[in-house]
Amino acid sequence: MNPPNDSSLNRRLFLSRFAAALAATSVAGFPTIVRAQAADKPIKIALVGCGGRGSGAAEQALKADNYVQLVAMGDAFSDRLETAHKNLKAGETGARVQVEDAQKFVGLDAIDKICAIKDLDVVLLTTPPGFRAEHLQKCVDAGKHTFCEKPCATDAPGVKRFLAATAAAKAKNLGLLSGFCYRFANGEREFFKRVQAGEIGDVRAVYGSYMGGSPWVKERKEGWTDLEYQLRNWLYFTWLSGDHIVEQAIHSVDKMLWAFDDATPVRAWSVAGRQQRVEDQFGHIFDHFAVGYEFSGGRMGTIFCRQQQGTWSNSNEKIFGTKGTGEIIAFKSQGYKLIDGTEWKYDGPRPDMYQNEHDAFFASIRAGKPLNLGEKLAHSTMTGILGRMAGYTGQVVSWDDAVDSKEDLRPTEPLDWKMKLPTPPVAMPGRTKFI
Ligand SMILES: NC(=O)c1ccc[n+]([C@@H]2O[C@H](COP(=O)([O-])OP(=O)(O)OC[C@H]3O[C@@H](n4cnc5c(N)ncnc54)[C@H](O)[C@@H]3O)[C@@H](O)[C@H]2O)c1
Repeated sequence: MNPPNDSSLNRRLFLSRFAAALAATSVAGFPTIVRAQAADKPIKIALVGCGGRGSGAAEQALKADNYVQLVAMGDAFSDRLETAHKNLKAGETGARVQVEDAQKFVGLDAIDKICAIKDLDVVLLTTPPGFRAEHLQKCVDAGKHTFCEKPCATDAPGVKRFLAATAAAKAKNLGLLSGFCYRFANGEREFFKRVQAGEIGDVRAVYGSYMGGSPWVKERKEGWTDLEYQLRNWLYFTWLSGDHIVEQAIHSVDKMLWAFDDATPVRAWSVAGRQQRVEDQFGHIFDHFAVGYEFSGGRMGTIFCRQQQGTWSNSNEKIFGTKGTGEIIAFKSQGYKLIDGTEWKYDGPRPDMYQNEHDAFFASIRAGKPLNLGEKLAHSTMTGILGRMAGYTGQVVSWDDAVDSKEDLRPTEPLDWKMKLPTPPVAMPGRTKFI
């Protein structure tokens, strides 16, 4: 058994902190009863954010159930929408891609147009995460089930808005599938089931690493306004991505929380910076973070993440228990070795985890008991944000202070294609203040 964790206490603290946001969220129509649906009743879905992940998620949703139909698509840009539409049409489930031109919505208000469609059951939210909380809130107000890609926000106010919308979704019996796909990977599920059953003893420490090269970057084209440039090159702007510890390494952060039975950390500190990616095209995010997370009872988590070309690439998690050590290497191996020499390795099937999560979600909708995984998504996202705050400021930051942070990264003016949106300064540990 793990030592008593503080997850329920943290949860209560967090819940009380977002109670005000919840009060502001409409639960019009409460309570909505979602009943089990006949197995051949069409489930109509829409996609908002038609990029790489959105296209994948739409295909997985279509494959999850023979009666799922994609009926609407929305994106900030028509080229992204049309490419995704063409690819989905050409795919295995193309016959159930039934998106009339009038149901293709381009612009930042695409979400509103989609939420206004009456005969629509599920919305897949796969834009950059800076929009997720607002989009979820709109979908829940409109009575739609959602798939929310990870992470769910880029700052603490966003996480609170997301949690408020999660609670409203629960009150309406609306499903919310989280993009933490490893939670649906067979190997990881079996591994964590054994860890939680105490097979490696009490979990005392977790090390996670998400280290690789630099992902895609878009150079600014002539004619692009500040907003278009930032949206197209969104990985490098913190209001949109949360920085790479929140946007990418969050999978490792999520597995760290999973190992600790979903406890949230007490505080964090970090060594982090921007060393290799210094050119303008990389916006203002960092390229490395090493974060120490302290959990209750003196338990420790460490997350290393890096995006630098030419450096050692490695992604794994090590879980240290009082009886032995477990290790996960994504897609490859999950197992442990105990001090007494006992070994266990997962050797079962490895079906696609992305498909697994959609299969489970659509089955739960059909059964009238939709999965709602919003809280875990929010807690892991907030833990990543806490690590970024520690990295940017160079200070020890407590969970409570991080949750109460007033730092709202969204532009202060309403979004407008012609607005001035300069790149914010790069944070400087020791000088950047905690807000
Ligand atoms: N779970 C995973 O393994 C996994 C893998 C990849 C990406 N993701 C997540 O999926 C999300 C999308 O990532 P991606 O790689 O598909 O990015 P992408 O850039 O390929 O796609 C994002 C799309 O959203 C559109 N968009 C931006 N703002 C919008 C708005 N306000 N309204 C409507 N459309 C808008 C963009 O034009 C773009 O087409 C991110 O949160 C990312 O972290 C998760």
